[in-house]
Amino acid sequence: MECPVPQTVIAGNWKMYKTQREALAFLQAFLPLVSGVPAARELVLCVPFTALVPLADKLQGTSIQLGAQNVHWEDQGAFTGEIAAPMLVELGVRYVVVGHSERRQYFGETDQTVNGRLRAAQAHGLTPILCVGETKQQREAGQIESLIYRQLDQALVGVDPDNLVIAYEPIWAIGTGLTCETQEANRVIGLIRQRVGRPDITIQYGGSVKPGNIDELMAAPEINGVLVGGASLEPESFARIANYC
Ligand code: 13P
Repeated sequence: MECPVPQTVIAGNWKMYKTQREALAFLQAFLPLVSGVPAARELVLCVPFTALVPLADKLQGTSIQLGAQNVHWEDQGAFTGEIAAPMLVELGVRYVVVGHSERRQYFGETDQTVNGRLRAAQAHGLTPILCVGETKQQREAGQIESLIYRQLDQALVGVDPDNLVIAYEPIWAIGTGLTCETQEANRVIGLIRQRVGRPDITIQYGGSVKPGNIDELMAAPEINGVLVGGASLEPESFARIANYC
């Protein structure tokens, strides 16, 4: 019997960067630079809500998928400042980042709210990118495994692993220029894969991914893609990442 292999997913997370005008300028420069990326690599841009509409229009007919950065667990309601899955689906969004460490740290996201968001995304056919990862203190205290297993076990209750991407993002590596050693990222991602029990699930690495380290990261057997912050903001650097060797 043939074993299905994980899909490679290269995603940019723009966080709270780029107006509509800046997003369109990015795309104009970016598209020609990624025209030769193999079709087996899924490229995703997870952009601010305001950039979804103009990018959706310009991405039609390309192989680049549109992603959002959050989704609420209810389909509608009195939740000021939140966004519902049907609103994203209507715009052509395919992926949504859920449980990013910045949401957990600054906006009170918990494993329970993450779980609700994952379920709502899947219920509407979106593919969530679930972020997990430890702080420097948790790493130094030897708590990586227990922390990540807790994040996974609680977030994944009632969640379909067949429509899910996981991103291992060690918090100390995000925006710091400190990349997790490839071997260590590979090890932790292997643990995540075992815990989820699906050999074919796509698991990304995230945290200071750059043109200078992408080739080594993608050569690691457990790493099926990357979730890129800062280096996804410049067309040249994100294109180099998408065109990894
Ligand atoms: P950087 O690539 O800027 O470290 O950010 C990683 C990240 O948080 C992606 O979600």
